[in-house]
Amino acid sequence: MTRKRSVVKGLGAYLPERVVTNSELARTVDTSDEWIVERTGIHQRHVAADGEFTSDLAIRASDKALADAGVSPSEVDLIVLATSTPDDTFPATATKVQAGLGITKGAAFDIQAVCSGFVYAVAVADNFIKAGQADTALVVGAETFSRILDWQDRSTCVLFGDGAGAFVLRADEARNGDASRGIMSTHLHSDGRHRDCLFVDGGPSSTQTVGHLRMSGKEVFRHAVVNLAAAVGEALDANGLNADDVDWLVPHQANRRIMASTARKLGFSEEKLVVTIDRHANTSAASIPLALADAVDDGRVQEDNLVLIEAMGGGFTWGSAMIRW
Ligand code: UT7
Repeated sequence: MTRKRSVVKGLGAYLPERVVTNSELARTVDTSDEWIVERTGIHQRHVAADGEFTSDLAIRASDKALADAGVSPSEVDLIVLATSTPDDTFPATATKVQAGLGITKGAAFDIQAVCSGFVYAVAVADNFIKAGQADTALVVGAETFSRILDWQDRSTCVLFGDGAGAFVLRADEARNGDASRGIMSTHLHSDGRHRDCLFVDGGPSSTQTVGHLRMSGKEVFRHAVVNLAAAVGEALDANGLNADDVDWLVPHQANRRIMASTARKLGFSEEKLVVTIDRHANTSAASIPLALADAVDDGRVQEDNLVLIEAMGGGFTWGSAMIRW
C-alpha cells in the first residue's frame, strides 16, 4: 500500500530591511559587541519597520516559498503559521496571510509554541497531509519579537530579531519505503512547569496588555542542552539512523554555544551544523526556515540530503523533525 508523505516543495525566507548591530545597541544599553558575540554568536539582528507587521513578513516569505515550489496560491488548502507575536489578539495572523495571498479555501490558523513553533507547525501540517485532510500546506514561522522586548533589559534585548520563513509541503506517495523524500518523523514535547523561566509578562486575559519578554537565560540554557539532545536522539532512533547518516543539523538559532554543545554531545561534526544566528539573532519560530534557506541558497543542502531540525522554547516546548530533502 502506498502511504502519503509530506514533501518540502518550496522554501522562502524574509528579513526586514533594517539591520541593528551590536555596537548600535551598546549605545543605548550597558553591553558590548564583544560580550554579545562571545556569549551568543550574534553580530546583528533585523528589525521590522514601523507599520510592518508579522503578517507582512510572513506574506513575503510565503510568496517566495510558493514561487520556489512553482505552486499557485489557489492550490494551498492549509496554512499553519507559528508565531508568538501575532498582529492582533485575534483573528489569527494566518488568516491575514491567507487573505494577503488571495487564498479563499482551506483552513488557516496560528499555533503558539514560541521558539519551537516551526517544528510544531511542520508536525501539525505533516499530520494533516498524512491523514488526507490537506494536500498543499503553507507552513510559516514569522515573528516581530522587537515588539515584545524590553529595550532597557540588556539580558534579553540583545538576543532577538524579526524575520519569517516558510515551507510549501505537499502530499506525495511514499516510494521506496524510508528512502523517499519528505518528512520522515516528528517528535514534540512540552513541560509547562517551566513557564517562569521564559515568558511574556502580559496577555489579553491576565493583564490586558501585550507585555515584555522575561527570561532566566542560564536556566533555559541548562534545559535546552538536555532537551535538544533528547529530541535529536529520538529522531535518530525513530529512523534507525546515527549522527553520521545526517547531512545537516539545522537547530533553532538561540545561542551558538547551545547549538555547538548539542551537536558535540551527539557526535555531529561542526561542519554539519547550519548556523545563521550571527546575522539574524534569535527569530523564534522563524529561525529554522531562515537558517535552512541560507543553506539551500548557497548549495549546501541538496536534494536527497537528510536534514534534522530541532528547537526548544518557552513553555518549555521542544521537538525535532527528520526530513529527506
Ligand atoms: O530561544 C528560546 C530559548 N532561549 C535560549 O535558549 C537562551 C538561553 N540562554 C542563553 O543563551 C544565555 O544564558 C544568555 C546568552 C542569555 C546569557 O549568557 P550567560 O553566559 O548565561 O550569562 P549570564 O546570564 O550568566 O550573565 C553573565 C553576566 C552577568 O553579570 P554578573 O552577574 O556575572 O556580573 C550579567 O549581568 O553577564 C551580564 N550580562 C551582560 N553583560 C553585557 C547579561 N547580559 C549582558 C549583556 N551585556 N547584554
